[in-house]
Amino acid sequence: MQGKLRKAVAGLVVASIACAGGLAYMHANAAESNVGELGFANELRIPPLAEGVLDADGTRVFELDLQEGSTEFRDGVETPTWGVNGSYLGPTLRVRRGERVRIEVRNGLPEATTLHWHGMHLPAAADGGPHQTIEPGAVWSPGWKVGQPAATLWYHPHMMGSTAAHVYRGVAGMFIVDDDEADAAGLPGRYGVDDVPLIVQDRRFNGDGSFDESAGMISPTGILGDEILVNGTRDPHFDVTTRLVRLRLLNAANARIFNLGLADRRPLWLVGTDGGLLPEPVERETLQLSPGERAEVLVRMAPGERVVLRSFEPDLGADFFNEPFVGGKDEFDVLELRAADELSGPSEPPSRLVEMPEPDPGEAVGAREFVLNGTTINAQAMDMGRIDAVVERDASEVWVVRNDASIPHSFHVHDVRFHVLAVDGEGPPPELSGLKDTVNVRPKTEMRLLVRFEDYADPGLPYMFHCHVLQHEDRGMMGQFVVVDGSDERPGRIEAEHADHAGR
Ligand code: C2O
Ligand code: CU
Ligand code: CU
Repeated sequence: MQGKLRKAVAGLVVASIACAGGLAYMHANAAESNVGELGFANELRIPPLAEGVLDADGTRVFELDLQEGSTEFRDGVETPTWGVNGSYLGPTLRVRRGERVRIEVRNGLPEATTLHWHGMHLPAAADGGPHQTIEPGAVWSPGWKVGQPAATLWYHPHMMGSTAAHVYRGVAGMFIVDDDEADAAGLPGRYGVDDVPLIVQDRRFNGDGSFDESAGMISPTGILGDEILVNGTRDPHFDVTTRLVRLRLLNAANARIFNLGLADRRPLWLVGTDGGLLPEPVERETLQLSPGERAEVLVRMAPGERVVLRSFEPDLGADFFNEPFVGGKDEFDVLELRAADELSGPSEPPSRLVEMPEPDPGEAVGAREFVLNGTTINAQAMDMGRIDAVVERDASEVWVVRNDASIPHSFHVHDVRFHVLAVDGEGPPPELSGLKDTVNVRPKTEMRLLVRFEDYADPGLPYMFHCHVLQHEDRGMMGQFVVVDGSDERPGRIEAEHADHAGR
């Protein structure tokens, strides 16, 4: 008996030493890099531009078909994928401020899903969040009036519990809003020529060519890919024909934070953030984007040269143990820019862009706190029937978002564009001084956001706020707010199908 017990204990000790060794091995080897390995052999795919058709009353109407297909990312290898009007990703939608739009979304996928217009200011019923489910074979036709400044937005599914899988398989696209003020700013604006959408994603492939959807074994953040796709193109290059090129950068990855810059560290001129253009260009060497965030930048090229857009090791602020498992040691070449021997257009960015009102914290009627930790917000998991916040229409609030965890979270609010007032008590850096709808909240950091809820009230239908790390969102790191009009009731719960998703 004694001997047996001792043997069992010894076995346990050996097993746990082996396990700790394995963990240390994985820790040391968790860094991913493709730097120097790419040939940039493939021409960057530019998503087709969808401008819709005008119907009799002047509404711009788009048709989007969500479909299954297969995509050849690598010669001769087919990957089963999902897409919109195609096998992977979708067209770039383009609308102008002041227009009415309607989008007919047909779900040709084998599962229920939704389609959300990330960054768009619209009625909750048109938002495409988890309450606007589209069953297989069904059509959903939201409409709204575009009432916000020119910006780079995007669309993607938002199905409770399966957003990560649906986006990973390929359902996403860019959504550009134009307006007269941005047109007059003098920025490069020829789509796919000197105004280039870059949908940046990481993916991991199985040996048979299919996407590996299994989350990293001990990843605290979900799957991190070891290959980069830009607009669904592996190993891409883009042929530049102008001295200045405008890149619309979208981090459409499920979990990865990219730290984008040019390999030779030449400046990027940041001209726009999530919600619109900045008052003037700001020079940066690199720009960190967490999942869901966008940035518009200008890059200057010289005739005949080649320069690589790279994602440098990001500065995540995670603890020593977690850093490699959230991608903190990873570096990737993303895209090679290849300049023609003769380039056209100006070589200096415009000095002034658009007017942007200064945020006035004094207008806030109150403050609310959102504490991020684990996969919860304020220690609660998402419940489709619970209303977490009731806000007044046309009021501003300060949202204090605090990350108590030791890994980063990406906080996104539907319907609104907000100003970052402070990060740990300090004024925001230039890249956070424009209009935002998604921000990376670093570990042990508090951000104060000034959020204004304009135009649309609906006491019965909520908007979402959530972590944009999609595995976290699926696991419940999400909450709901309704916007009410003075006289409306203030619901604590609403009727919801599949009301209880807590703990998924
Ligand atoms: Cu881009 Cu609620 O999502
Ligand atoms: Cu959104
Ligand atoms: Cu998160």
